[in-house]
Amino acid sequence: MKETILKKFAEVYGTQEGARAFFAPGRVNLIGEHTDYNGGHVFPCALTIGTYAVARKRNDRKLRFFSMNFEHLGVIESSLDDLKPRREAGWTNYPKGVMWAFGEKGYQIDSGLDILLNGNIPNGSGLSSSASVEVVTGYILSELFDLHVSNQDLALIGQFSENNFNGVNCGIMDQFAIAMGKKDNAIFLDTADLSYEYAPIKLDGAKIVISCSNKKRGLGSSKYNERREECEMALSEIQTGMGINTLGDLTEEQFEMVKMAIKDEDRRKRAKHAVYENQRTIKAVQALKDNDIALFGKLMNESHISLRDDYEVTGEELDTLVEEAWKIDGVIGSRMTGAGFGGCTVSIVKDEAVDEFIEKVGKAYKATIGYAADFYVVEIGSGPCEL
Ligand code: GLA
Repeated sequence: MKETILKKFAEVYGTQEGARAFFAPGRVNLIGEHTDYNGGHVFPCALTIGTYAVARKRNDRKLRFFSMNFEHLGVIESSLDDLKPRREAGWTNYPKGVMWAFGEKGYQIDSGLDILLNGNIPNGSGLSSSASVEVVTGYILSELFDLHVSNQDLALIGQFSENNFNGVNCGIMDQFAIAMGKKDNAIFLDTADLSYEYAPIKLDGAKIVISCSNKKRGLGSSKYNERREECEMALSEIQTGMGINTLGDLTEEQFEMVKMAIKDEDRRKRAKHAVYENQRTIKAVQALKDNDIALFGKLMNESHISLRDDYEVTGEELDTLVEEAWKIDGVIGSRMTGAGFGGCTVSIVKDEAVDEFIEKVGKAYKATIGYAADFYVVEIGSGPCEL
Protein backbone atom coordinates (compact mmCIF):
# COMPACT_ATOMS: atom_id res chain seq x y z
CA MET A 1 0.00 0.00 0.00
CA LYS A 2 2.84 2.41 0.83
CA GLU A 3 4.20 2.32 -2.73
CA THR A 4 0.73 2.77 -4.24
CA ILE A 5 -0.10 5.86 -2.19
CA LEU A 6 3.35 7.43 -2.64
CA LYS A 7 3.09 6.91 -6.38
CA LYS A 8 -0.38 8.44 -6.45
CA PHE A 9 0.87 11.36 -4.34
CA ALA A 10 3.56 12.06 -6.95
CA GLU A 11 0.98 11.84 -9.71
CA VAL A 12 -1.36 14.29 -7.97
CA TYR A 13 1.19 16.75 -6.52
CA GLY A 14 4.12 16.52 -8.97
CA THR A 15 6.75 14.72 -6.86
CA GLN A 16 6.94 12.50 -3.79
CA GLU A 17 10.05 14.20 -2.45
CA GLY A 18 9.83 14.82 1.28
CA ALA A 19 6.49 12.98 1.53
CA ARG A 20 5.86 10.58 4.42
CA ALA A 21 3.28 7.80 4.66
CA PHE A 22 1.03 7.05 7.66
CA PHE A 23 -1.85 4.82 8.75
CA ALA A 24 -4.65 4.91 11.33
CA PRO A 25 -7.10 2.03 11.83
CA GLY A 26 -10.90 1.83 11.91
CA ARG A 27 -12.64 0.34 14.95
CA VAL A 28 -15.35 -2.05 15.96
CA ASN A 29 -17.06 -2.02 19.35
CA LEU A 30 -17.55 -5.49 20.85
CA ILE A 31 -19.93 -4.36 23.62
CA GLY A 32 -20.83 -1.17 25.53
CA GLU A 33 -23.00 0.80 23.10
CA HIS A 34 -24.29 4.31 23.73
CA THR A 35 -22.56 4.27 27.10
CA ASP A 36 -19.62 6.56 26.27
CA TYR A 37 -21.58 9.78 26.74
CA ASN A 38 -23.23 8.37 29.88
CA GLY A 39 -20.05 7.93 31.89
CA GLY A 40 -20.07 4.18 31.27
CA HIS A 41 -17.68 1.54 29.95
CA VAL A 42 -16.98 0.55 26.35
CA PHE A 43 -15.04 -2.37 24.89
CA PRO A 44 -13.89 -1.55 21.34
CA CYS A 45 -10.87 -2.65 19.33
CA ALA A 46 -8.91 -1.19 16.43
CA LEU A 47 -8.97 -3.05 13.10
CA THR A 48 -6.27 -3.77 10.54
CA ILE A 49 -8.31 -1.85 7.94
CA GLY A 50 -8.22 1.93 8.15
CA THR A 51 -6.98 5.13 6.52
CA TYR A 52 -3.66 5.35 4.67
CA ALA A 53 -2.22 8.83 4.19
CA VAL A 54 0.72 10.62 2.59
CA ALA A 55 1.64 14.14 3.70
CA ARG A 56 4.28 16.78 3.08
CA LYS A 57 4.81 20.26 4.47
CA ARG A 58 4.60 23.23 2.11
CA ASN A 59 6.48 26.53 2.14
CA ASP A 60 3.30 28.60 2.19
CA ARG A 61 0.01 28.43 4.15
CA LYS A 62 -1.93 26.55 1.50
CA LEU A 63 -3.69 23.26 2.25
CA ARG A 64 -4.28 20.75 -0.53
CA PHE A 65 -6.33 17.59 -0.03
CA PHE A 66 -6.90 14.60 -2.31
CA SER A 67 -8.78 11.40 -1.47
CA MET A 68 -8.45 8.25 -3.55
CA ASN A 69 -11.94 7.36 -2.27
CA PHE A 70 -13.39 10.51 -3.86
CA GLU A 71 -11.10 10.85 -6.91
CA HIS A 72 -13.81 12.61 -8.91
CA LEU A 73 -13.58 15.57 -6.51
CA GLY A 74 -9.96 16.14 -7.50
CA VAL A 75 -7.61 18.28 -5.41
CA ILE A 76 -9.48 20.42 -2.87
CA GLU A 77 -7.66 23.59 -1.86
CA SER A 78 -7.93 25.62 1.31
CA SER A 79 -5.67 27.63 3.59
CA LEU A 80 -4.56 27.61 7.22
CA ASP A 81 -6.11 31.09 7.38
CA ASP A 82 -9.51 29.76 6.42
CA LEU A 83 -10.17 27.11 9.09
CA LYS A 84 -13.52 27.92 10.67
CA PRO A 85 -16.17 25.51 11.95
CA ARG A 86 -18.68 25.06 9.18
CA ARG A 87 -21.62 22.86 8.47
CA GLU A 88 -21.39 22.33 4.72
CA ALA A 89 -20.83 18.73 3.66
CA GLY A 90 -17.45 17.47 2.46
CA TRP A 91 -14.84 14.98 3.56
CA THR A 92 -12.13 17.64 4.02
CA ASN A 93 -14.02 18.93 7.08
CA TYR A 94 -12.48 16.04 9.04
CA PRO A 95 -8.80 16.86 8.43
CA LYS A 96 -9.54 20.59 8.48
CA GLY A 97 -11.39 20.19 11.79
CA VAL A 98 -8.32 18.55 13.36
CA MET A 99 -6.01 21.30 12.05
CA TRP A 100 -8.37 23.88 13.53
CA ALA A 101 -8.53 21.94 16.82
CA PHE A 102 -4.71 21.83 17.07
CA GLY A 103 -4.75 25.64 16.84
CA GLU A 104 -7.49 25.88 19.49
CA LYS A 105 -5.40 23.68 21.81
CA GLY A 106 -2.38 25.96 21.39
CA TYR A 107 -0.26 23.93 18.95
CA GLN A 108 1.59 25.84 16.24
CA ILE A 109 0.90 24.66 12.70
CA ASP A 110 2.94 27.23 10.80
CA SER A 111 2.98 25.93 7.27
CA GLY A 112 0.53 24.39 4.83
CA LEU A 113 0.40 20.76 3.71
CA ASP A 114 -0.27 18.53 0.74
CA ILE A 115 -2.24 15.49 1.87
CA LEU A 116 -3.47 12.38 0.11
CA LEU A 117 -5.76 9.81 1.73
CA ASN A 118 -6.81 6.30 0.80
CA GLY A 119 -9.15 4.43 3.14
CA ASN A 120 -10.13 0.78 2.99
CA ILE A 121 -12.89 0.94 5.58
CA PRO A 122 -16.16 0.27 3.74
CA ASN A 123 -17.93 3.61 3.16
CA GLY A 124 -20.55 4.69 5.70
CA SER A 125 -20.27 1.34 7.47
CA GLY A 126 -20.15 2.55 11.05
CA LEU A 127 -16.56 1.35 11.48
CA SER A 128 -15.48 4.94 12.20
CA SER A 129 -13.90 6.04 8.97
CA SER A 130 -14.28 9.67 10.09
CA ALA A 131 -12.56 9.14 13.44
CA SER A 132 -9.84 7.26 11.55
CA VAL A 133 -9.28 10.30 9.29
CA GLU A 134 -9.21 12.55 12.36
CA VAL A 135 -6.62 10.44 14.15
CA VAL A 136 -4.39 10.02 11.09
CA THR A 137 -4.49 13.79 10.54
CA GLY A 138 -3.54 14.45 14.16
CA TYR A 139 -0.73 11.92 13.93
CA ILE A 140 0.58 13.58 10.76
CA LEU A 141 0.56 17.03 12.38
CA SER A 142 2.29 15.73 15.49
CA GLU A 143 5.01 14.03 13.44
CA LEU A 144 5.61 16.69 10.75
CA PHE A 145 5.64 19.60 13.19
CA ASP A 146 7.47 17.75 16.01
CA LEU A 147 4.65 18.36 18.47
CA HIS A 148 4.95 15.11 20.47
CA VAL A 149 1.21 14.84 21.08
CA SER A 150 0.36 11.67 23.03
CA ASN A 151 -2.01 9.18 21.40
CA GLN A 152 -4.58 9.82 24.11
CA ASP A 153 -4.48 13.54 23.33
CA LEU A 154 -4.86 12.74 19.62
CA ALA A 155 -8.11 10.98 20.56
CA LEU A 156 -9.32 13.95 22.62
CA ILE A 157 -8.41 16.45 19.89
CA GLY A 158 -10.21 14.28 17.31
CA GLN A 159 -13.35 14.22 19.44
CA PHE A 160 -13.07 17.98 20.11
CA SER A 161 -12.88 18.67 16.39
CA GLU A 162 -15.82 16.38 15.62
CA ASN A 163 -17.95 18.03 18.34
CA ASN A 164 -17.00 21.62 17.65
CA PHE A 165 -15.96 21.82 13.99
CA ASN A 166 -18.33 19.22 12.54
CA GLY A 167 -21.20 19.60 15.01
CA VAL A 168 -21.50 15.88 15.78
CA ASN A 169 -21.91 15.40 19.50
CA CYS A 170 -20.07 12.04 19.65
CA GLY A 171 -18.46 10.49 22.74
CA ILE A 172 -14.79 9.52 23.05
CA MET A 173 -15.02 5.83 22.13
CA ASP A 174 -14.18 5.90 18.42
CA GLN A 175 -11.17 8.21 18.55
CA PHE A 176 -9.85 6.48 21.69
CA ALA A 177 -10.16 2.99 20.20
CA ILE A 178 -8.31 4.13 17.09
CA ALA A 179 -5.57 6.20 18.72
CA MET A 180 -4.90 3.65 21.50
CA GLY A 181 -5.44 0.45 19.51
CA LYS A 182 -3.27 -2.58 20.27
CA LYS A 183 -2.94 -5.67 18.11
CA ASP A 184 -5.07 -8.62 19.27
CA ASN A 185 -6.44 -6.62 22.22
CA ALA A 186 -9.69 -4.83 22.94
CA ILE A 187 -9.71 -1.74 25.16
CA PHE A 188 -11.82 -1.75 28.33
CA LEU A 189 -12.31 1.97 28.77
CA ASP A 190 -14.13 3.76 31.58
CA THR A 191 -15.36 6.90 29.86
CA ALA A 192 -15.99 8.58 33.24
CA ASP A 193 -12.28 9.12 33.84
CA LEU A 194 -10.55 7.61 30.76
CA SER A 195 -8.90 4.86 32.81
CA TYR A 196 -8.46 1.79 30.63
CA GLU A 197 -6.94 -1.64 30.37
CA TYR A 198 -6.13 -3.85 27.41
CA ALA A 199 -7.80 -7.25 27.26
CA PRO A 200 -6.35 -9.90 24.95
CA ILE A 201 -8.94 -11.33 22.57
CA LYS A 202 -8.06 -14.98 22.12
CA LEU A 203 -10.87 -16.43 20.10
CA ASP A 204 -9.49 -19.91 19.73
CA GLY A 205 -11.46 -21.43 16.89
CA ALA A 206 -13.64 -18.38 16.21
CA LYS A 207 -13.56 -15.20 14.15
CA ILE A 208 -14.95 -11.69 14.31
CA VAL A 209 -17.34 -11.18 11.40
CA ILE A 210 -18.68 -7.75 10.48
CA SER A 211 -21.94 -7.67 8.54
CA CYS A 212 -22.53 -4.38 6.80
CA SER A 213 -26.22 -3.54 6.22
CA ASN A 214 -25.46 -1.06 3.43
CA LYS A 215 -28.22 1.07 4.87
CA LYS A 216 -27.29 4.73 4.76
CA ARG A 217 -27.40 6.38 8.16
CA GLY A 218 -29.77 9.13 6.95
CA LEU A 219 -31.35 10.70 10.00
CA GLY A 220 -28.75 9.03 12.18
CA SER A 221 -26.90 12.00 13.59
CA SER A 222 -30.04 13.89 14.61
CA LYS A 223 -31.43 10.77 16.32
CA TYR A 224 -28.04 10.31 17.98
CA ASN A 225 -28.20 13.80 19.47
CA GLU A 226 -31.82 13.14 20.51
CA ARG A 227 -30.79 10.01 22.47
CA ARG A 228 -28.09 12.00 24.24
CA GLU A 229 -30.63 14.62 25.28
CA GLU A 230 -33.04 11.95 26.53
CA CYS A 231 -30.29 10.45 28.70
CA GLU A 232 -29.26 13.84 30.05
CA MET A 233 -32.82 14.66 31.00
CA ALA A 234 -33.37 11.25 32.63
CA LEU A 235 -30.19 11.74 34.63
CA SER A 236 -31.30 15.12 35.89
CA GLU A 237 -34.66 13.64 36.97
CA ILE A 238 -33.06 10.95 39.15
CA GLN A 239 -29.99 12.89 40.19
CA THR A 240 -31.62 14.96 42.91
CA GLY A 241 -30.27 13.87 46.25
CA MET A 242 -28.46 10.82 44.83
CA GLY A 243 -24.96 12.21 44.51
CA ILE A 244 -24.32 10.65 41.10
CA ASN A 245 -22.70 12.34 38.13
CA THR A 246 -23.67 9.98 35.30
CA LEU A 247 -25.97 7.06 34.54
CA GLY A 248 -22.82 4.97 34.55
CA ASP A 249 -22.60 5.47 38.33
CA LEU A 250 -25.72 3.32 38.90
CA THR A 251 -26.08 -0.43 39.35
CA GLU A 252 -29.18 -2.14 37.99
CA GLU A 253 -30.64 -2.37 41.52
CA GLN A 254 -30.09 1.32 42.22
CA PHE A 255 -31.71 2.20 38.92
CA GLU A 256 -34.77 0.06 39.63
CA MET A 257 -35.24 1.89 42.92
CA VAL A 258 -35.21 5.39 41.44
CA LYS A 259 -36.48 4.88 37.91
CA MET A 260 -40.02 6.12 38.54
CA ALA A 261 -38.61 9.61 39.04
CA ILE A 262 -38.15 9.59 35.25
CA LYS A 263 -41.50 10.88 34.10
CA ASP A 264 -41.59 9.77 30.48
CA GLU A 265 -41.66 6.06 29.62
CA ASP A 266 -39.42 6.29 26.56
CA ARG A 267 -36.88 8.28 28.53
CA ARG A 268 -36.99 5.66 31.28
CA LYS A 269 -36.19 2.99 28.68
CA ARG A 270 -33.24 4.98 27.32
CA ALA A 271 -31.79 5.38 30.82
CA LYS A 272 -32.37 1.70 31.56
CA HIS A 273 -30.33 0.77 28.51
CA ALA A 274 -27.48 3.08 29.53
CA VAL A 275 -27.34 1.62 33.05
CA TYR A 276 -27.77 -2.05 32.11
CA GLU A 277 -25.45 -1.86 29.09
CA ASN A 278 -22.69 -0.44 31.26
CA GLN A 279 -23.08 -3.26 33.79
CA ARG A 280 -23.25 -5.78 30.92
CA THR A 281 -19.96 -4.48 29.56
CA ILE A 282 -18.26 -4.92 32.94
CA LYS A 283 -19.65 -8.48 33.14
CA ALA A 284 -18.60 -9.25 29.57
CA VAL A 285 -14.98 -8.28 30.20
CA GLN A 286 -14.99 -10.43 33.34
CA ALA A 287 -16.41 -13.34 31.30
CA LEU A 288 -13.56 -12.95 28.84
CA LYS A 289 -11.01 -12.97 31.67
CA ASP A 290 -12.64 -16.18 32.95
CA ASN A 291 -12.35 -17.63 29.45
CA ASP A 292 -16.14 -17.92 29.31
CA ILE A 293 -16.66 -16.94 25.70
CA ALA A 294 -20.19 -18.39 25.70
CA LEU A 295 -21.24 -15.91 28.39
CA PHE A 296 -19.51 -13.10 26.50
CA GLY A 297 -21.63 -14.01 23.45
CA LYS A 298 -24.82 -14.17 25.49
CA LEU A 299 -24.15 -10.67 26.82
CA MET A 300 -23.57 -9.44 23.25
CA ASN A 301 -27.00 -10.81 22.32
CA GLU A 302 -28.60 -9.11 25.33
CA SER A 303 -26.92 -5.88 24.31
CA HIS A 304 -28.63 -6.06 20.92
CA ILE A 305 -32.04 -6.74 22.47
CA SER A 306 -31.64 -3.72 24.74
CA LEU A 307 -30.55 -1.50 21.82
CA ARG A 308 -33.55 -2.79 19.84
CA ASP A 309 -36.29 -2.59 22.48
CA ASP A 310 -35.18 0.05 24.99
CA TYR A 311 -32.79 2.34 23.15
CA GLU A 312 -34.54 1.87 19.78
CA VAL A 313 -31.57 2.49 17.52
CA THR A 314 -31.54 -0.71 15.44
CA GLY A 315 -34.15 -0.82 12.65
CA GLU A 316 -35.22 -3.63 10.34
CA GLU A 317 -31.86 -3.97 8.59
CA LEU A 318 -29.72 -4.46 11.70
CA ASP A 319 -32.40 -6.61 13.38
CA THR A 320 -32.58 -8.89 10.34
CA LEU A 321 -28.80 -9.35 10.26
CA VAL A 322 -28.67 -10.17 13.97
CA GLU A 323 -31.77 -12.34 14.16
CA GLU A 324 -30.63 -14.40 11.15
CA ALA A 325 -27.18 -14.73 12.72
CA TRP A 326 -28.69 -16.05 15.96
CA LYS A 327 -30.31 -18.92 14.00
CA ILE A 328 -26.94 -20.35 13.00
CA ASP A 329 -25.17 -22.94 15.14
CA GLY A 330 -21.67 -21.74 15.70
CA VAL A 331 -22.63 -18.10 16.29
CA ILE A 332 -21.38 -17.30 19.78
CA GLY A 333 -22.85 -13.79 19.86
CA SER A 334 -24.16 -11.14 17.50
CA ARG A 335 -25.22 -7.51 17.92
CA MET A 336 -25.34 -4.15 16.19
CA THR A 337 -22.20 -2.05 16.67
CA GLY A 338 -21.61 1.71 16.62
CA ALA A 339 -24.32 4.35 16.61
CA GLY A 340 -26.97 2.18 14.93
CA PHE A 341 -29.76 3.29 12.56
CA GLY A 342 -27.82 1.48 9.81
CA GLY A 343 -24.17 0.53 9.60
CA CYS A 344 -22.89 -2.83 10.82
CA THR A 345 -23.33 -5.75 13.16
CA VAL A 346 -20.50 -7.64 14.85
CA SER A 347 -20.67 -11.39 15.37
CA ILE A 348 -18.35 -13.94 16.90
CA VAL A 349 -18.56 -17.04 14.75
CA LYS A 350 -16.85 -20.41 15.08
CA ASP A 351 -14.35 -21.01 12.26
CA GLU A 352 -16.28 -23.87 10.75
CA ALA A 353 -19.52 -21.85 10.62
CA VAL A 354 -18.16 -18.70 8.91
CA ASP A 355 -18.97 -19.76 5.32
CA GLU A 356 -22.45 -20.91 6.26
CA PHE A 357 -22.97 -17.65 8.20
CA ILE A 358 -22.10 -15.49 5.23
CA GLU A 359 -24.22 -17.53 2.85
CA LYS A 360 -27.34 -17.90 5.00
CA VAL A 361 -27.41 -14.45 6.60
CA GLY A 362 -26.61 -12.90 3.20
CA LYS A 363 -29.47 -14.75 1.48
CA ALA A 364 -32.04 -14.04 4.18
CA TYR A 365 -31.02 -10.37 4.33
CA LYS A 366 -31.43 -9.89 0.61
CA ALA A 367 -34.80 -11.65 0.62
CA THR A 368 -36.13 -9.50 3.48
CA ILE A 369 -34.53 -6.12 2.77
CA GLY A 370 -34.24 -6.20 -1.01
CA TYR A 371 -30.53 -5.44 -1.38
CA ALA A 372 -27.34 -7.22 -0.37
CA ALA A 373 -25.27 -6.98 2.81
CA ASP A 374 -21.45 -7.21 2.79
CA PHE A 375 -19.39 -9.40 5.10
CA TYR A 376 -15.86 -8.94 6.41
CA VAL A 377 -13.82 -11.29 8.57
CA VAL A 378 -11.65 -8.82 10.48
CA GLU A 379 -8.48 -8.83 12.57
CA ILE A 380 -7.66 -6.64 15.56
CA GLY A 381 -4.90 -4.19 14.70
CA SER A 382 -2.77 -1.46 16.30
CA GLY A 383 -3.09 2.33 16.56
CA PRO A 384 -1.65 4.96 14.21
CA CYS A 385 1.85 4.61 12.79
CA GLU A 386 4.26 5.88 10.15
CA LEU A 387 4.66 3.34 7.35
C1 GLA B 1 -20.91 6.57 17.62
C2 GLA B 1 -20.21 7.63 18.46
C3 GLA B 1 -19.55 7.02 19.71
C4 GLA B 1 -20.55 6.17 20.48
C5 GLA B 1 -21.29 5.21 19.56
C6 GLA B 1 -22.40 4.46 20.27
O1 GLA B 1 -19.97 5.67 17.10
O2 GLA B 1 -19.22 8.29 17.68
O3 GLA B 1 -19.01 8.04 20.51
O4 GLA B 1 -21.45 6.97 21.20
O5 GLA B 1 -21.85 5.87 18.44
O6 GLA B 1 -21.89 3.60 21.22
